[in-house]
Amino acid sequence: MAKNGQWQLSAEAAERYERYVARYILGPWAPLLVDASQVGVGERVLDVACGTGVVARAAAERAGAAGRIVGVDLNSGMIAVARSLPAPAGAPIAWIECSALGLPLQNATMDVVLCQQGLQFFPDKALAMREMRRVLARGGRLALSVWNGIGLYNSAVGEALARFLSDAAAVQFCASRQAPAKEELQRLAAEAGFSAVDVRVSRSNVHLPRLDQFTLDHLSATPVAAAYRRRRAGGAREDWRECHERTSPLCRWQGRHLSRRNTCADGKGLVIIKTLHRRRPCYTFWNALLR
Ligand SMILES: C[S@@+](CC[C@H](N)C(=O)[O-])C[C@H]1O[C@@H](n2cnc3c(N)ncnc32)[C@H](O)[C@@H]1O
Repeated sequence: MAKNGQWQLSAEAAERYERYVARYILGPWAPLLVDASQVGVGERVLDVACGTGVVARAAAERAGAAGRIVGVDLNSGMIAVARSLPAPAGAPIAWIECSALGLPLQNATMDVVLCQQGLQFFPDKALAMREMRRVLARGGRLALSVWNGIGLYNSAVGEALARFLSDAAAVQFCASRQAPAKEELQRLAAEAGFSAVDVRVSRSNVHLPRLDQFTLDHLSATPVAAAYRRRRAGGAREDWRECHERTSPLCRWQGRHLSRRNTCADGKGLVIIKTLHRRRPCYTFWNALLR
């Protein structure tokens, strides 16, 4: 499941990832990343660590039929789900199973590179950044997002995992929030040859279903899924009530603002918006925080 410390899922968990994580947590951010990169009609767009393709599909609609989209991900389950979903109106999308550390694309063949919540999992971030720079054509842009902190929801679930499953499961669950800070992002971008680097914080409201059920659905769509299933098979279901209790203050707090059916996680983020550069690919950085 965990491959080289990277965020990896089984085929079954990839389907749940699409149903819960892409739909409720990352999907709402996808159009914002596409906006930040200013994808234009007819452009060639690469979505690195595309997962089940939520960003690639948003970019396809923006690029229109004359555009071309490529989505790449290391995980075969993610790519299989991406291929199985209905194609959006707009640019055709090619899905490729490969590592961000060795993109099977020619130099200078993309206008825009997008990467939503992928960088923190790459074992060699500098190499991944150089690869993204290499495939960009003159004047190309990169828009990339990572979380800017652990957030209330992830802290609560992480604490429950540490208590009832293992410290390792908690660390694994929270790994997505262990992202480079602003200065590190700027250094990585500059060393990869990007200019006009701009890092900004962004906030967004993410509407979640009732947390008592959603927490378990979410866990089943993460790399801790196998350990979580083993625990439940061993009759440990009772323990998870405490996980719900730990997240329930969040439900109550959120419930004041929203209907009973939906809860809301108030998102804050460090967004970094591009500045165009005429001679070298410019760099758009969007560092998002959900808390
Ligand atoms: C949190 S998911 C984000 C997926 C997608 N960008 C989205 O917004 O839904 C992180 C993704 O990074 C992928 N990943 C991790 N390491 C990778 C690598 N070295 N090369 C390519 N993809 C990688 C995982 O397979 C996973 O799909």
